[in-house]
Amino acid sequence: MISRHADPPHALQHLLTLEGLPRAQLEALLERAQHYADVREDRSVLAGSAVCTLFFEPSTRTRMSFQLAAQRLGAEVLNFDASTSSTSKGESARDTLRTIEAMGVRGFIVRHQHDGAVAALAEAAGPATALINAGDGRSAHPTQGLLDMLTLRQAKGEDFSCLKVLIVGDVRHSRVARSDLHALRTVGTGELRVCAPQALLPEDATLEGCTVSHDLDAALEGVDAVMLLRLQRERMQEGLVGSLHDYHRDYGLTSARLRRAAADAVVLHPGPVNRGVEVTDEVADGAQSLILRQVGNGVAARMAVLEALLGSR
Ligand code: CP
Repeated sequence: MISRHADPPHALQHLLTLEGLPRAQLEALLERAQHYADVREDRSVLAGSAVCTLFFEPSTRTRMSFQLAAQRLGAEVLNFDASTSSTSKGESARDTLRTIEAMGVRGFIVRHQHDGAVAALAEAAGPATALINAGDGRSAHPTQGLLDMLTLRQAKGEDFSCLKVLIVGDVRHSRVARSDLHALRTVGTGELRVCAPQALLPEDATLEGCTVSHDLDAALEGVDAVMLLRLQRERMQEGLVGSLHDYHRDYGLTSARLRRAAADAVVLHPGPVNRGVEVTDEVADGAQSLILRQVGNGVAARMAVLEALLGSR
């Protein structure tokens, strides 16, 4: 959820997860994101502010879109690279945060490989500092959830109650799936389906309210949107999937399979895409793919979040 700081009342302090975020707040963020998708920049919003991208894991889309978002709102942006920083001398993430905070930086966009690491850093931060979770472990990637909802709204309208949405792939290791599912439930999605091999399904409450299937052809019938997930090879224990070839045969989205979905169905993928594994080139680059639209919307969604957390400071 977005935690609240007592002074001023109702100001947002951190964005750590979409779980528990009220529908009105989620929709207000989406409205602002659409505003920034239309106007592209307003350099007065964060003029005089400095933000830092504090990434302990690699990223292309999230880090660069946050940089652009902050710049388009008028902020200075510092980019912390763990591989060339004093963390290589043993400095902790907490001390790194407090050190950069001491330079007057008040916004931190943090990615970390461990579940809960961003929340722990938020506890260590001062009361005037805002942290945005840019992905922690397999727990949450809230701004990906927001940009995915923005992309779906643009394609399908604001009423999610008439939509059938299918999530395919490695839900077990996916922070994107968790944030998407929180957001899809909050906006009242009509039907949620999940399709994956048993070994890639989570054993917690992530799938509450979803129809679960291991048969992609059946799961695709009539859906309005297919949200593909990257096979998280770097987090997988050996043996969860027989082979990439087998995975593609059983769970890869091909043009022939996509014809089972609604004629105007759209395809999303958070990237980076394992082409030929979870999706063919033909589908990834085809007319129904919104993959690059998602990337563009990432800037607008992140502008909305930066404004909400830092705009009034
Ligand atoms: N979707 C996403 O988080 O991509 P990056 O890892 O490139 O930021």
